[in-house]
Amino acid sequence: MPRSPRPLALVTGASSGIGASLARELARDGHDLILSARRVAPMQALAGELKASGASSTIIRADLSQPGAAAALVQEIAAKGLVVDVLINAAGLGANGRFDATDPVRVSEMLQVNVLALTELTRLLLPGMIGRRKGQIMLLASTAAFQPGPQMAVYCASKAYVLSFGEAIAYELKGSGVSVTTLCPGATETEFAAVARLENSALFKGGMVPVMSADEVARIGYQALKSRRPVAITGLRNTIMAVSSKLSPTPLTLRIANWMMTAGK
Ligand SMILES: NC(=O)c1ccc[n+]([C@@H]2O[C@H](COP(=O)([O-])OP(=O)(O)OC[C@H]3O[C@@H](n4cnc5c(N)ncnc54)[C@H](OP(=O)(O)O)[C@@H]3O)[C@@H](O)[C@H]2O)c1
Repeated sequence: MPRSPRPLALVTGASSGIGASLARELARDGHDLILSARRVAPMQALAGELKASGASSTIIRADLSQPGAAAALVQEIAAKGLVVDVLINAAGLGANGRFDATDPVRVSEMLQVNVLALTELTRLLLPGMIGRRKGQIMLLASTAAFQPGPQMAVYCASKAYVLSFGEAIAYELKGSGVSVTTLCPGATETEFAAVARLENSALFKGGMVPVMSADEVARIGYQALKSRRPVAITGLRNTIMAVSSKLSPTPLTLRIANWMMTAGK
């Protein structure tokens, strides 16, 4: 199949929130899209919208919480004769509450989607990009990556993994033509808070740091991807929070994180 002159971006988590907004940024900037998530209807609506920017979209349904789903997604892309130039790993989910009370199925879903599928997709698509000496990868971490988070222990640990993994491979890939950008948003207005049952937390009430829109986060993230920055934190206040978390004594950051994720319930 002849390659389209437009570069092709695979966006996971494209049915909602930051993933959908990043797909809009990519389409506006001349990319065609592969949109992937479990819910097809919102991706069909998005694909229709992206046509206005001249982008053609391929929708591939995938449940990344299932072992082997990342490999199956990559196989389906190859079977369609498509070559991925840009990989956006945006699919992810959280869960609020004490670890011992968290649904064990939700715990493995978080690890599977946030950690394993993201790592596997990156591993599977990276060699082709290196071979072509051209490619851009984005990993969605979070400001949650900068400190342990009581009441969101697994989520914060999963995002700490993403940040550590992203920074390490970005370094390994210097000079390869392939860049890795780890995007660390703070609280963002998407379906995330409802899925994680965090709507009533101080974090999402925006008291300390305002809740950003998904479009704003995507705009900042896309600029960082284009300038091949290894790490981008969204906004000055989130940057100050992330840096102070790293510099403060752990007992203090634990108390603050615990308050932010439980207060107001
Ligand atoms: N919102 C925030 O405050 C915030 C802050 C920092 C970082 N983040 C990160 O940003 C990323 C995007 O989240 P968002 O805020 O845009 O939340 P969102 O609106 O809930 O979007 C999450 C996306 O992930 C997809 N997803 C969830 N489970 C999946 C599964 N099993 N298989 C395939 N796709 C799955 C969802 O699609 P389906 O449900 O259709 O499968 C959806 O498209 C996540 O990695 C999140 O951790 C969010």
